[in-house]
Amino acid sequence: MNKPLDSDVLAASTAQVGVGRPHESAHLHVAGEAPYVDDLPELAGTLHCALGLSPVAHGVLNGISLDALRAEPGVVSILTADDIPGVNDCGSIVRDDPILAQREVRYLGQPVFAVIARTREVARRVAARAKEALQIEPRPAVIDPLDAHARGQYVLPPMHLQRGEARAAIDGAPRRLQGTFEVGGQEQFYLEGQISYAVPRENDGMLVHCSTQHPSEMQHLVAHALGLHAHHVQVECRRMGGGFGGKESQSALFACVAAVAAKQLGQPVKLRLDRDDDFLITGRRHCFRYAYEVGYDDEGRVLGAEVTMVSRAGHSADLSGPVMTRALCHFDNAYWLPDVAMHGYCAKTNTQSNTAFRGFGGPQGAIAIENILDSIARTLGKDALDVRRLNFYGPGQSTPYGQPVVDNVIHELVAELEATSDYRARRAAVNAFNDTSPVLKRGLALTPVKFGISFNVKHFNQAGALVHVYTDGSILVNHGGTEMGQGLNTKVAQVVAHELGVPFESVRVTATDTHKIANTSATAASTGSDLNGKAAQDAARQIRERLAACAAALFGGETAAVRFAGGVISVGGRSLPFAELVTKAYQERVQLWSDGFYATPGLSWNRETLQGRPFYYFAYGAAVSEVLLDTLTGEWRLLRADVLHDVGRSLNPAIDIGQIEGAFIQGMGWLTMEELVWHPTSGALLTHAPSTYKIPTANDCPADFRVRLFDNDNAEDSIHRSKAVGEPPLLLPFSVFYALRDAVSAAGGHRVDPPLSAPATGEALLRAIEAVRAGAPR
Ligand code: MTE
Ligand code: HPA
Ligand code: MOS
Repeated sequence: MNKPLDSDVLAASTAQVGVGRPHESAHLHVAGEAPYVDDLPELAGTLHCALGLSPVAHGVLNGISLDALRAEPGVVSILTADDIPGVNDCGSIVRDDPILAQREVRYLGQPVFAVIARTREVARRVAARAKEALQIEPRPAVIDPLDAHARGQYVLPPMHLQRGEARAAIDGAPRRLQGTFEVGGQEQFYLEGQISYAVPRENDGMLVHCSTQHPSEMQHLVAHALGLHAHHVQVECRRMGGGFGGKESQSALFACVAAVAAKQLGQPVKLRLDRDDDFLITGRRHCFRYAYEVGYDDEGRVLGAEVTMVSRAGHSADLSGPVMTRALCHFDNAYWLPDVAMHGYCAKTNTQSNTAFRGFGGPQGAIAIENILDSIARTLGKDALDVRRLNFYGPGQSTPYGQPVVDNVIHELVAELEATSDYRARRAAVNAFNDTSPVLKRGLALTPVKFGISFNVKHFNQAGALVHVYTDGSILVNHGGTEMGQGLNTKVAQVVAHELGVPFESVRVTATDTHKIANTSATAASTGSDLNGKAAQDAARQIRERLAACAAALFGGETAAVRFAGGVISVGGRSLPFAELVTKAYQERVQLWSDGFYATPGLSWNRETLQGRPFYYFAYGAAVSEVLLDTLTGEWRLLRADVLHDVGRSLNPAIDIGQIEGAFIQGMGWLTMEELVWHPTSGALLTHAPSTYKIPTANDCPADFRVRLFDNDNAEDSIHRSKAVGEPPLLLPFSVFYALRDAVSAAGGHRVDPPLSAPATGEALLRAIEAVRAGAPR
């Protein structure tokens, strides 16, 4: 018989939350033993699918001739839109996203047909012959978002968020600044590409193993595509090799195609994308274009601001609406903007449909105000930190969308970072260095972050969990969240272990499964542990209360006095191992499993006026970056980065620091090296592989990287007073971008505002250096 898991574990420290521990699968990750969808043993008869893609960006689909392709050896079937038994749509919110193109093609790379073959190689080789099978009458394509904006071509109606009289405030201000700016898109570049493995089950059932952040949405969309109900479809995801937002909605097309094929053929079908196809088919972070005008005073205080943001939504709405909403709700970042008017346009272009990416529009919104403040400071000849600080929210102030900022810690946090990073002394050292160095220039910047936590769609802020305690004392947890490397399962297991007073090793979290937890939200908006941690705690608490009542009845004492700690239960002067109590409770017929539920309290949102309380709380942070720029080549290095970030009372400091480091480097990649290029007329994405699209590597991490957690409990009653960590730190590397802008500015003697947009690639930096050197002093 197995030894009870916790018989002799009387751990000195009994707290299971607030301790750094490795990711629950770390030992499997490093050994290559953590199974992803493609690693699951294939069932006999498994077929493989590949997609035939549109070779033009826009056109009328006049016909598809598949006879020659069907005749290829190894091909089992080729599906088109006409073979979809249910609805040909996999849109997340708006029903404007065909699974397979019908009548028209809307971007180069759009799936038009699906080849199912005995091997993946045959499927891919045949699908690659799409050009010869498709009869398309080309139409002019709109690739650039500003072209679409000029034509009034949008995927959703424009959005306006305003407070006060921005125009009057700008006109009445002592100083004014007008400008444009842009940031590029970004590929999620999850290491595990999009994949679905569909397995037909009895009586119309369909099981889909899917790499997805949103199993419930996959379940519904597959059911719609098959013309079945949700209860026919089971979606399972043990883990993803990264999602970063790219599998929040866009795993759907592949789940639907695999399921439709599996249904038609009555055999398991796997659809795993090649990296190039993943680039060509799926969307990514929205690039944004901005036009702004602000009025400010002689010290640099913003008095009025008006900004127009145009995003490249791509051919369909997907999540572009909530992304733009989050962008508008983050234009304030950490700053009080008394009179402000914002306008958001989701431009419809003949490109991949852009989607969620870590930050979800928040980074795109906040960087616009950072750019404005950076320019104001340069104009006034002030240190940008002083101008930023002057504009920080103060007591009693609220956001442009009407949410009071009651948990503001940005003053204390920035003051602490300013001191620990030695900001002022380093500013002086940078200036001294630049005075004597004509070619190499240093730059330094400190930027703050305030990021709103909750889905900006109210009803998504709920979660469920299921906790089983088995009679040997071992515990199995299921919850609605998905694991994509962020450590959610580790944190949820810690919460359950803590609640039941057992060692972490007693708790196992298993695959996310729509048959276990129903109606889940996407694991997104950084809310995974906030929502599912609370739901799992609720389930564990119910079990603990039943066990406590049982212990008190058996051994005497008060139910409320029963203690659960270190794998031991103590009551009425007696103590016994958790597993022994569990066995006794079972014999007393106590229910040893429970569901749990959580809904974030206090949220409200008016989608028409864009007013309310969309966020439960804010997460704060700040970073100081110092760069060294070679003004002859545009090459640069991040010499040192200091980060102070607010994760509330951390559930797991080791994982949180990993999230902060990862987000920092990922955000730095977005702003400095990751560049997407579409051919301006054909609409072909030219940067569709790692050979042409560069993401940061370990080499790009600063040699001196100091990440610390800010000591701060969540003011709200979140799970153990922690704060969400997944996305907010992606905004910290704004400091890298503004340090680069500072270095470029130094090349022109700080007389000219550098015309530098993101990504600040080597070429962009060189152009900006040339411009500041040529520019007339103001
Ligand atoms: N970390 C890893 N390792 N892999 C990922 O795909 N996704 C990010 C972030 N951190 C991601 C990650 C994004 S976009 C979000 S919204 C959150 O994790 C989601 O998980 P959480 O809510 O549990 O933090
Ligand atoms: N983040 C991620 N996904 C979402 C959000 C959000 O704020 N709102 C709706 N879907
Ligand atoms: Mo994250 S972009 O909300 O998946």
